[in-house]
Amino acid sequence: MEDAAELARIIAAHASREGPLLPILHDVQAAFGHVSEATIRTIAQALNLTRAEVHGVVSFYHDFHDHPQSRPVLKLCRAESCQARGVEALAAALPVQDRVKIETIYCLGLCSVGPNAMVGDRLHARLDAAKLNALVEALA
Ligand code: FES
Repeated sequence: MEDAAELARIIAAHASREGPLLPILHDVQAAFGHVSEATIRTIAQALNLTRAEVHGVVSFYHDFHDHPQSRPVLKLCRAESCQARGVEALAAALPVQDRVKIETIYCLGLCSVGPNAMVGDRLHARLDAAKLNALVEALA
């Protein structure tokens, strides 16, 4: 169970905003590593939404997880600009990972400095094989 006081603080920090659900979910994901069913219930009640509405948003966005992730995640951009800058060759050369989950993401908004990846909230640009391998090794 997540820290109820921290959850209440996160909800209170965003409740008066227009469209508070996504900022709340981002903060919950960052604080707890996932958005549990109990948290969904609490958020729904606080925002006067149904659990189905909150659950629908959680399940729609890949950034939100309904259970803790067992492996650290590296999100590798495989959209067009990063493809043009060689991300597919980098991805193909990565050793098979059992300790790090490599997810595909489509555009991190840094197209001119790709290939790019994101770990947590941190962006990593101008990747080459050595940089990408070092990133993965640092997570493993
Ligand atoms: S295509 Fe990779 S950051 Fe935009």
